[in-house]
Formats: sequence, C-alpha cells, structure tokens
Amino acid sequence: MSYSDAMFHHYQILTKTVDEYRKGRTIVLLGDSAVYRKYLAETYGITDCMVVTIVKEKAGNGLTHIEEIKGRNDRYYIVAPRLQKDLELQMRLYSYGYEDFEDCFFYNHGTIRLIRGTEKYSDPYGNHIHSPSCDVLIDQFATHLQIDVDSSCKFGKGGLITAKGFGGAKVTIGEKCVFENNVTLLVSGDAEVSIGSKCLFVRNSEMIVLGGTTLHIGKNCLFSFDIKIYCGDGHPIFDLKSRTRLNLQSKDNPKSIIHIGDHVWAGMRSIILNRTVIGTSSIIGAGSLVKGEFPNNCIVAGVPAKMIRKDITWSGDYLLDDINAIPEEYQYLTGEAPSEETDL
Ligand SMILES: CC(C)(COP(=O)(O)OP(=O)(O)OC[C@H]1O[C@@H](n2cnc3c(N)ncnc32)[C@H](O)[C@@H]1OP(=O)(O)O)[C@@H](O)C(=O)NCCC(=O)NCCS
Repeated sequence: MSYSDAMFHHYQILTKTVDEYRKGRTIVLLGDSAVYRKYLAETYGITDCMVVTIVKEKAGNGLTHIEEIKGRNDRYYIVAPRLQKDLELQMRLYSYGYEDFEDCFFYNHGTIRLIRGTEKYSDPYGNHIHSPSCDVLIDQFATHLQIDVDSSCKFGKGGLITAKGFGGAKVTIGEKCVFENNVTLLVSGDAEVSIGSKCLFVRNSEMIVLGGTTLHIGKNCLFSFDIKIYCGDGHPIFDLKSRTRLNLQSKDNPKSIIHIGDHVWAGMRSIILNRTVIGTSSIIGAGSLVKGEFPNNCIVAGVPAKMIRKDITWSGDYLLDDINAIPEEYQYLTGEAPSEETDL
C-alpha cells in the first residue's frame, strides 16, 4: 500500500465513525485537508463542509473564524483531519462545548498505553484489544487494530506489543504461550501476526512485522534468547534499470511472509527475515540468518542459513532420552510431512 493509499484507507475507516456520530450536522474541518475533502465528496457526496481557521485575518474566502462555531455543537460536527496533534486547539474546542466523539473527532488520537491487566479495550477508532498479560502501546494514528492475546499467556518484565500507523493490524496469540523478560512485538500498518499455542520465547527477543507483511508461527515452538524476527525491509529498494520497486510489501507478494511451522526450535541470536518458510519440527542453529524455504525435520544453520542435516526431530524436554515420547506428528522424514498451507 502506498502512503497516499494508506492515508485514503485511514480516512475511509475513520469517516465511518464520523458519519455515525455527526447525526446530520454540518461537518466543520478544523484545518483544511484537500485529500479529506476529496474523500468526503467522492464517498459521501458531502461538498458543503466548512473549514475553520484560528487566524482572524485569514477568515473570509471560504474560511470561517473558529469563534463562530462557539457553542454551536447542535449544528456543527468538528473533524480535525490534520496529522499534527494540536493540544491548544483541542482544548479550545472543548472550552467551546464540544465533546470527543459526540461533537468532534481528532484523527490524531495521541498515544494510548494499555497497562497489563486491561481485560478488554475498544474505542471509536475501531481498535479492539484483548491483552491482559502484556502492555500495549497504540501509536497516535493506529485504528482498527485487532489484538487478541489468549488470557492464559504469560509475559515477563518488559513485554510489549506496539502498533504503529494506519492500516488495522491483526495479532492473534494462542493459549499458554510464555514470553520471558523483554520480548516485544511491533506491528505497523496492516501487518498480520498469528502465533500458535504453547510457544516459548526466552528473554530479549524482538519481532517486527511491517505493513503489508505476515508472520505466522505454529504451535509448540521454542525461541531461544536474543532472537530477531523482522518481516519487511523497512525501506524501499528500487531497480535502476526497470525503475520498479524491488521490495514492495503487500499481501499479494509472497516475499512478504514468514511462515514458521509447528514445533520449530530457533537457536539463540538467530535472525529470521521475510520470504522464509520453515517446516514443522525443524531447528535453526544459533546465530543463523534465515531467509528462504526449508522443509520439515531438518537443521538449518549459518549465515545465510543452509540445510546442514535432514531427518531429525527434537524435544523441548532436555532430560528426554526416548524418541518414542515425541509425538508422531513431529517425526516425519524431511520432505515427507503433510504439506502446510503457505502463500509461498
Ligand atoms: C545446529 C545445532 C543444533 C547442532 O546441530 P548438529 O547437527 O549437531 O551439528 P554439528 O555440530 O554436527 O555440526 C554440523 C555442521 O554444521 C555446522 N554448524 C553447527 N551449528 C552451526 C551454527 N549454529 N551455525 C553455523 N554452522 C553450524 C558445524 O560447524 C558443522 O560443520 P562442518 O560439517 O563443516 O564441520 C547447534 O550447533 C546449535 O546451533 N544449537 C543451538 C543452541 C542454542 O541456541 N540453544 C539455546 C537453547 S534455548
């Protein structure tokens, strides 16, 4: 999604909320936005919105001075489409008798921090969060987030889920996952993350999943310490000859995913990048840099990681000596496990 597409999408989802609350009142824009006016005209046929200014000398020529809307919340619904947060302006509006959502709407909602212990959180920006054991930081523009961390999960000190930017990211974490100290997840834009049940993340690991990308982790996985999972490059790369972008992140681009099967063990300090598939019951060696497609029940290691051993399985129980105690679903020969559905 390009920046302007993302902005448009942002306006689109927020205008649904504006439309619900304004109840026929005239929309008054606090600070102009050509993109937003275009959106209102094209989507809702609204072409008569007023634009207010705080500068008296600028009033006239289509601009109304802000004092004229004082106490008129029966008639006007105020929208501040500007991306900069202007607290002074916001306070002024409140002093004029306008209330959040009922009478006015700020696209920049400021940073929202949910402290662990918050059972359920929803807001008129379409954010729905259930993350009782982990703090969640919602960036100033993040809307339509769906974050659902199962109540049985445990996060240690420093655990944090951060959501940034427009797009409506989705995060689902299954039951009984344990995240030891300082394990963090950052999602931006329309990123999607799913983590299966009973995964263990040992301390100091970071997952970053950028807009347009998807991270899937199966069940019963073990992530050692100091691991980085980075889905998306963060910056565009262009080919000079074809003039095209090489690393477009989008749901249609198979390079934009990381798919880790069930019962995968990632060794300490490994780095896992997008365009990666790792099959069930495989192992990533310590310090490896993983980018590519690898089958089930193998060991991959090195920089860049290559398959160094086939036909293995492993156990999370370090005292186990009997292979028969390992579930059969984790004992396929390499390349013979039932195929997993991935987008690659
Ligand atoms: C990969 C690993 C599991 C060992 O697998 P193995 O099949 O027993 O591997 P071996 O020791 O027989 O080594 C086989 C080859 O792979 C290489 N190799 C092993 N681990 C490697 C690694 N992490 N990175 C690069 N190469 C590695 C060895 O140097 C050897 O190469 P060679 O054949 O050229 O000599 C182990 O080295 C490892 O990385 N363990 C992870 C430890 C960890 O992070 N523990 C945290 C617990 S939560």
